[in-house]
Amino acid sequence: MTLTERSSLPAHLDSMVWPRTARWSEGGDLRVGGVGLAALAAEHGTPVFVVDETDVRARCRAYAAAFGPDAVAYTAKALLSIDIARWIAAEGLGLYAGSAGEVRVAALAGFDMRRVVLYGSAKTPEDLEAAYAAGVGTVVVESLGEVTRLAATAPAGQRVLLRVLAGPEPAGGHDSRFGVRVAGGEAAAAVARIAAQPGLRLAGFDCSLGHQLNRFSLYEREIGRLSEFAAAMRRAHGVELEQLNLGGGHSVAYRPAELDLALDAFAARMRAVLRLEADRHGMPAPRLTVSPGRAIVARAGVTVYRVVAVTRTQRGDRLVAVDGGMSDCPATALCGSRHSAVLLGRDAHAASGPAAVVGRHNDADDMVVPDAELPTDVHPGDLLAVAGTGAYHHARATNFHLVARPALLAAAGGRARVLVRRESLDDMLARDLGR
Ligand SMILES: Cc1ncc(COP(=O)(O)O)c(C=O)c1O
Repeated sequence: MTLTERSSLPAHLDSMVWPRTARWSEGGDLRVGGVGLAALAAEHGTPVFVVDETDVRARCRAYAAAFGPDAVAYTAKALLSIDIARWIAAEGLGLYAGSAGEVRVAALAGFDMRRVVLYGSAKTPEDLEAAYAAGVGTVVVESLGEVTRLAATAPAGQRVLLRVLAGPEPAGGHDSRFGVRVAGGEAAAAVARIAAQPGLRLAGFDCSLGHQLNRFSLYEREIGRLSEFAAAMRRAHGVELEQLNLGGGHSVAYRPAELDLALDAFAARMRAVLRLEADRHGMPAPRLTVSPGRAIVARAGVTVYRVVAVTRTQRGDRLVAVDGGMSDCPATALCGSRHSAVLLGRDAHAASGPAAVVGRHNDADDMVVPDAELPTDVHPGDLLAVAGTGAYHHARATNFHLVARPALLAAAGGRARVLVRRESLDDMLARDLGR
């Protein structure tokens, strides 16, 4: 293998990829929120998730500024703790909750429950009961059968959005999406059924177009289709829609060359398209809302690992094994997402070269960063920081291999706080009744 001789200076921290407050400091340490990550690793153990509170709040503010203060709800499944829900609420965002658990966290955080939306293709009776008891403002209807179910159980006057699938089936012919389809008349039947229920109030439509999207045209086309359907429903049932939720799926940069969704331009363009479509159909434009998850929290998160072993393959490729892996970063193994990694906690004197950072789970898919650039003298005991782990990492962490899930810390203003403590072996075994 040829080593790429590169500077032994600390790696450049690209501001699109690393948290807003990330800075190199003395001795090769990396600071987030003014807190040295090496000290955090020493105190709290590794792996450890660190969230830059300033970054999360700044993203919330950027979204509220782009779309309007009442037009943004954070999709909780990307990352949630009670304190994180408090930040989101304090920044004026609403919350898309997909389970009784997420509704409970919103309530514990003191969320204005009128700003909470319960969504989900398979809401259980427990999810619905929790939502009704907490007084969630809106419930998203995602199948025709759900209309009857909500009519029978929801508090009188429950505000609902209808998840409408207006576009063509995904390429490949396999369509696992929930929502009511415009093609074939299912969506029109759902509108008629809701309109006939005095206990339900149809406020608008909702959609979800995918993940890591940055092409405006995808969203523009959906606004066109949904506006056309809204106009038809206005003519047929006299329903006047007040809201159109365009979902989330906004892309974030995990690597320096990748693109964030251009937020301000996106918001302005979507508003303009909606206004044009509404004018074209001679109806008032509904309020445009969005429900991003990843784009609010991904860049704010960093995971710190400790190197446990280093080896070379027969081809000479360098493998750096760390004390976490697919139990704390499942997206890398499952979705092939690509992150950036740096050495931290000591000055790097050696040149950089390629390395695959692999996990501890004895599985060929257990990749943390398959194509990192790390100093050639990386050795057991070193610390590595992986960027962009705020979304769908802590949230999807598992106990695979009976490995305890890492702590989730917040760093801001030179102080760190534990949001969710590290799991212990006893925590895991508490559920095993064979003890
Ligand atoms: C309505 C809605 N908004 C947003 C999202 C989250 O997507 P992302 O985290 O990519 O923004 C989802 C996820 O499936 C969703 O159903």
